[in-house]
Amino acid sequence: MATLSIGKLSSLVGLLISVNLYNYVEAKEPLFCLSCSSVISPRHCHNIRKCEEGQVCYTEKYTNYNGEILYNTGCHSPSFCNLTNVVGSPLEASSNNRIEQCVECCHGNACNSHGCNSTAYPSVRGPLCFSCQQTTDPSLCRTARVCNEDEVCHIHEVHEFGERFYSSSCLQRQICDAYRPGSAFGRKRYVHACSSCCGTDLCNSNCKLPVDCSDIYQNGQHQTGVYSIYPYKDPNRPVRVKCEGAVLGGGWTVIQSRARDNPRVDFNTTWQAYKDGFGNINGNHWLGNDLIHLLTTSNNYSLYIKMKATDGNTYWAEYDSFSISNEADGYRLHLGHISRTYSSNVPVNFGSDEFRDHSIVNQTFYTFDHDNAVKCSAQCGSGWWYRSCTTTNLNAPFNEIHRDSVWYNVISSGKFLQFSEMLVKRSV
Ligand SMILES: *[C@@H]1O[C@H](CO)[C@@H](O)[C@H](O)[C@H]1NC(C)=O
Ligand SMILES: *[C@@H]1O[C@H](CO)[C@@H](O)[C@H](O)[C@H]1NC(C)=O
Ligand SMILES: *[C@@H]1O[C@H](CO)[C@@H](O)[C@H](O)[C@H]1NC(C)=O
Ligand SMILES: *[C@@H]1O[C@H](CO)[C@@H](O)[C@H](O)[C@H]1NC(C)=O
Ligand SMILES: *[C@@H]1O[C@H](CO)[C@@H](O)[C@H](O)[C@H]1NC(C)=O
Repeated sequence: MATLSIGKLSSLVGLLISVNLYNYVEAKEPLFCLSCSSVISPRHCHNIRKCEEGQVCYTEKYTNYNGEILYNTGCHSPSFCNLTNVVGSPLEASSNNRIEQCVECCHGNACNSHGCNSTAYPSVRGPLCFSCQQTTDPSLCRTARVCNEDEVCHIHEVHEFGERFYSSSCLQRQICDAYRPGSAFGRKRYVHACSSCCGTDLCNSNCKLPVDCSDIYQNGQHQTGVYSIYPYKDPNRPVRVKCEGAVLGGGWTVIQSRARDNPRVDFNTTWQAYKDGFGNINGNHWLGNDLIHLLTTSNNYSLYIKMKATDGNTYWAEYDSFSISNEADGYRLHLGHISRTYSSNVPVNFGSDEFRDHSIVNQTFYTFDHDNAVKCSAQCGSGWWYRSCTTTNLNAPFNEIHRDSVWYNVISSGKFLQFSEMLVKRSV
């Protein structure tokens, strides 16, 4: 059904262009179906209907009293399709002046655009997009059209005379690339409004700024990479983050990333640096305690830790909840139960994971210039949550024989860390 090639789409991946590479329709989600009466071909129907739960898209082909072949399309319960599974079986009883040719049901957004063997959309085309001039609620738009090959779906929010409404349509890809919220593109009055582009059929039904990588993922950007999110819900305040699309269902926001072969970023740094974040978002970095606090307290988040040792073994642990308090409270660590673990090659018992057992939960964050009484941060050469120093510390220096292990059970006594990542994801 979708005919944009992946190759073409990948060239589209820009900051705010959300490109859906996958079809999301799940069995229980209500479908969007083409819905028209007496059209000469389903693909010329521009009306969309949102089905009731459990309904499917149908196409009905018939010959009218003039001998013309016409189509009806819309939503129906699946049993409707049992009327005539036999092609061409006339159901003259169902109508006085027409001959039923075919009734066909399908499951998938706008799948009835080529029902009953009617001509499909051209194979070279852009996505099918919602297309409404002015709607106060963009999810109520019920007209759509197929875009040209060089276009994608677009939706933006307009503020005019103190009123707010949405406009959706096809838009040239290049224009989408330039059209970012907060940029000076277009007319000034749009500057503070939402604008979003996406590349799959019927993807432009809402105009929400992504708050985190879960939203990025849901918008269809499944590739691991650096994206803009809007945790402050302000289009003029984007934050660049790395999103992990490949692990555990995707949608993870990276809050810490370190690799041994990129040692230049110093993790023995100040309170202010940990507060604001430091390093290179594509490489070694700490996202920033203020932002981690904002993200993890605005929703429920889980934490996923990825470690790789220099011997090549990898270790993963997932905790079902994670948050840190605000600066005034010392960025205190809240951590739920360990929910999933994994290790390659060697069996490892995460059951007594030190991140919990070492009473690290509910400890505040420390840096050398904001240290605890026993100066754990200065001794361990890193900002972290310390009690009487610690047996878990992903920010510890790589090579130095520092006081404590990186992760007591798995990376300690002669083993070194090759790579680590801490990722968070919204639980709902
Ligand atoms: C359609 O007919 C088949 C075969 O008679 C039956 O098994 C199926 O349950 C019917 N489906 C619906 C939705 O009624
Ligand atoms: C559609 O066309 C195919 C091949 O031409 C045929 O086998 C099939 O029965 C047709 N289906 C309908 C619903 O007309
Ligand atoms: C987190 O989930 C709990 C229920 O499990 C709920 O009561 C609470 O409001 C949620 N917190 C946030 C910030 O969404
Ligand atoms: C966390 O520590 C604070 C300050 O010491 C204390 O007031 C609070 O009760 C602790 N919370 C838990 C869950 O232990
Ligand atoms: C971390 O930096 C502080 C301040 O420069 C220094 O006093 C401390 O020795 C360093 N710690 C390590 C383990 O390098």
